[in-house]
Amino acid sequence: MRIALIGCGHIGTVHSFALKQLADVGEIDARVVTTYDPDASRAEKLAAPHGAIAADSIEDALDGADVAWICSWTSAHLPAVEAAVARGMAVFCEKPLAPTLAECERVGRLMRAVPNQVGLVLRHAPVFANVADIVADGRYGLPMAVMLRDDQYFPNQAMYGSTWRCDVAKAGGGALIEHSIHDVDVLRWILGDPDRVTARTASHFSHPGIEDAVTAGFAYPDGTVATLVSVWHQVMTRPSTRRLEVLFEEAFCWTEDDYLGPLHVETSSGSEVLLGEAPAYAARFDLPEILAKSLSAYAEPARLFLSALATEGTDARGHPDVDVALAAHRLVDAAYRSAAAGGETIVFQPIPGAVD
Ligand SMILES: NC(=O)c1ccc[n+]([C@@H]2O[C@H](COP(=O)([O-])OP(=O)(O)OC[C@H]3O[C@@H](n4cnc5c(N)ncnc54)[C@H](O)[C@@H]3O)[C@@H](O)[C@H]2O)c1
Repeated sequence: MRIALIGCGHIGTVHSFALKQLADVGEIDARVVTTYDPDASRAEKLAAPHGAIAADSIEDALDGADVAWICSWTSAHLPAVEAAVARGMAVFCEKPLAPTLAECERVGRLMRAVPNQVGLVLRHAPVFANVADIVADGRYGLPMAVMLRDDQYFPNQAMYGSTWRCDVAKAGGGALIEHSIHDVDVLRWILGDPDRVTARTASHFSHPGIEDAVTAGFAYPDGTVATLVSVWHQVMTRPSTRRLEVLFEEAFCWTEDDYLGPLHVETSSGSEVLLGEAPAYAARFDLPEILAKSLSAYAEPARLFLSALATEGTDARGHPDVDVALAAHRLVDAAYRSAAAGGETIVFQPIPGAVD
């Protein structure tokens, strides 16, 4: 399978690395053959380790490949998806799908026509799979309240070094859509769709339309309540950092690691610690163990999508797919509408048939 890597910045580099490591250890029969970025030096830098061609245009990059791996900034996703789907290519697209809900819906209509996957990588995090299992089997009763705090330094600097995240036309908004779409998706995975959404947002760092502090409240038909707090601050020692707490009727669960855990579970009869495992093949990556583990958070979803494409062809479905991403976008949009209305409660009606 021949991959065109579209967008060669921070996350494009992570994916380039993951795809190369997977191919080198024989976990995928796929390789990056073309790269494209309007910043040609970035495209050339990522083409080199694969022996790939740094194309001069997105069309040239796609023409030589079977799968489009779209890692450009958010407003560039839609045109890239259009070009790839016009060629009948399978599409991996980074989150968020697009800056506005209307454009996200357009991306959804396009991507649904081809095998597709979206970069909501937390769907593959063993720690959240453990929480989802505990909720689903009801072993500790109902989840009464969920608290998810997500904070990171304002990502226009250091490791992220991007200016587009300060531009609402390119990013669609700030901490909520750009980063916490992951959190909204995890809450939806664990708890399903809420029927009430409330939110407040604030901007402290003078980028119009880019909120850097958010609280969002979600209320569910069974009485569960959830609160998301998402902040972009200036504490440079804190890159992406999450803490999840779930208060069940008969247990308290919490984690401060959004990939392997540990997940701490406290009940009246004692405490246990559930630790997730990275895929075994990560030990064969040509990387220090700590880097191999964090890279596998991106490598494993990529491996699953490429394996499905290899075995099922055009019938392959990635996970999470564009419908899962759209369902999270609709919740993000409801939260923005609530915040714009001063925290008014939005009655949320999921699209019937929206999938998990
Ligand atoms: N899933 C995750 O964990 C995760 C993490 C970080 C970023 N992201 C998402 O990935 C996307 C990129 O983020 P980033 O951190 O890599 O940003 P970045 O600024 O590091 O890189 C973006 C790149 O896109 C390129 N670009 C702009 N227009 C383009 C076009 N028309 N065609 C091809 N490339 C184009 C830019 O030149 C730049 O090199 C964003 O949508 C972001 O939300 C996802």
